[in-house]
Amino acid sequence: MINELSGKQAGQVDKSRLPRHIAIIMDGNGRWAKKRGLPRTAGHKAGAETFRKIATYCKNLGVEYLTVYAFSTENWKRSETEVGAIMALLRRYLLEAIDSMERDSIRLKFFGDMTAIPPELRSLARETDEITEHLGRDAFQANICLNYGGRDELLRAARRFAADCTAGLRKPEELDEAVFSGYLDSAGVPDPELIIRPSGELRLSNFLLWQCAYSEFYYTDTLWPDFDEAEIDRAVAAYQKRDRRFGGVK
Ligand code: IPE
Ligand code: IPE
Ligand code: MG
Repeated sequence: MINELSGKQAGQVDKSRLPRHIAIIMDGNGRWAKKRGLPRTAGHKAGAETFRKIATYCKNLGVEYLTVYAFSTENWKRSETEVGAIMALLRRYLLEAIDSMERDSIRLKFFGDMTAIPPELRSLARETDEITEHLGRDAFQANICLNYGGRDELLRAARRFAADCTAGLRKPEELDEAVFSGYLDSAGVPDPELIIRPSGELRLSNFLLWQCAYSEFYYTDTLWPDFDEAEIDRAVAAYQKRDRRFGGVK
């Protein structure tokens, strides 16, 4: 086990020191299904339910932003059946979200290159964008990374900045961290204080490469479909025990 805390105290969360932004690499759906002799797609279905549960929990806990890695720029390497099943699940989730976001006061944003996403899904995402714009800035915000890669996000941002320079809207010497952040998919969203990766893998897999500069990492062996509220508590409690120095000395 690589869980860093165990025992009774493991999940004691101090609600006055919550991370504003939690990011999760939703990994382990395939292995969860395989263990049960089910097709990988059954794992994705179970994983989608876990997302629903964890988003609700984070919102109720008082976290402001939850960013989840749903489909990477590398995940197109998978079979057509698997990719199709993931897109179908997303479609179903978006249809539900369109009906419930306003009632539940949940803002929904997409990070990633949406140009390669099936057109129907893209137009549903435009609908959720519109609803999000109407919801107040203080509402809980879920960011779904779809056809997302950290390197791709950086390249798209660099391209847009260069285009603004060519158009005379910007000067190269104006570029600093704040300006560049404004060109990223995550513009306006604070960097995640905590990044969680379930399923025992100890890597980033191209997730939030710019934004993770000073994130705290939490890894657990639990597979994403088995992930629950107590796991969030354990991750937050572990985060709250970390000594965050940001390069300084205490
Ligand atoms: C994460 O689960 C979901 C996606 C990457 C779309 P996986 O499908 O990667 O599950 P494992 O890693 O094979 O168990
Ligand atoms: C990362 O998981 C991407 C998502 C969870 C969407 P992967 O399963 O694709 O990552 P690797 O292949 O193990 O690095
Ligand atoms: Mg995986």
